Amino acid sequence: MGVDVTTPNIARIYDYFLGGKDNYATDRAAAEQIMKSVPEAPASARANRAFLTRAVRFLAGEAGVRQFVDVGAGLPTQGNVHEVARGVNPDARVAYVDNDPIVLAHARALMVEDEGVAVVQGDLRRPEEILADERLRRLIDFREPVAVLLVAILHFIGDDEDPFTMVARLLDTLPAGSHLVISHGYEGGMDGGASERAQSVYRRSTSSIHSRDPEQVARFFGGWEILDPGVVWISQWRPTPDDAMADPSVTHFLGAVGRTPQG
Ligand SMILES: C[S@@+](CC[C@H](N)C(=O)[O-])C[C@H]1O[C@@H](n2cnc3c(N)ncnc32)[C@H](O)[C@@H]1O
Repeated sequence: MGVDVTTPNIARIYDYFLGGKDNYATDRAAAEQIMKSVPEAPASARANRAFLTRAVRFLAGEAGVRQFVDVGAGLPTQGNVHEVARGVNPDARVAYVDNDPIVLAHARALMVEDEGVAVVQGDLRRPEEILADERLRRLIDFREPVAVLLVAILHFIGDDEDPFTMVARLLDTLPAGSHLVISHGYEGGMDGGASERAQSVYRRSTSSIHSRDPEQVARFFGGWEILDPGVVWISQWRPTPDDAMADPSVTHFLGAVGRTPQG
């Protein structure tokens, strides 16, 4: 399979923001162009990883979840979900799902697929295929609570594709005690010109980007209970002292964690 190194790739741009090495000149040029309008983009990507880490620690610990399905997992980085979850509960099992063959190739090369980790090709646009995947089903027992992670992925799907129904189909059959983690790009508080310039770079990449506000992000949880503190800027979601930010809106991401309604 050939690698397209001429079109900026959303996973590799994000990798560049995080200081990773799995990116090409075209990705770096796009990332630098975004940073001209949004200089805080790397800090925002780091804040997103910090949010993901806090959410996974909460799920594997207090919430007692042992199974994770990370859709839009991205290129391996520091503190991958299975490492964080196993730091809390050594029995944690993680299925990484992504639709980008490059991401899957890197994930398979860099992360040992053991009895508790699988790397699965899947597209959020086709949730039934993800849920039916054989490797995923060997790892994840759908009779037990599952945490679905949709972290920095939903803003790559426009309303014309109906992401709300996709997420509902993904959650529909999950048992009681299951959880959903979302982080989502939001241009609220951002200078309109800067937002448009950044969006125009993404339009030339492998995926354009779509901002959604807190109410729209809450809609993804359907009838599930959104846990405290609700849909907030990611640095405000159960922060440790290290996560404090003078202006949390510069993260440009909203985040929330929800769970199945208590019966
Ligand atoms: C910005 S990265 C986020 C990585 C990681 N979740 C994080 O937050 O650190 C977005 C990832 O979502 C993947 N992605 C985008 N659209 C997708 C889709 N429809 N189905 C599966 N993966 C998708 C991309 O390939 C990329 O790896």
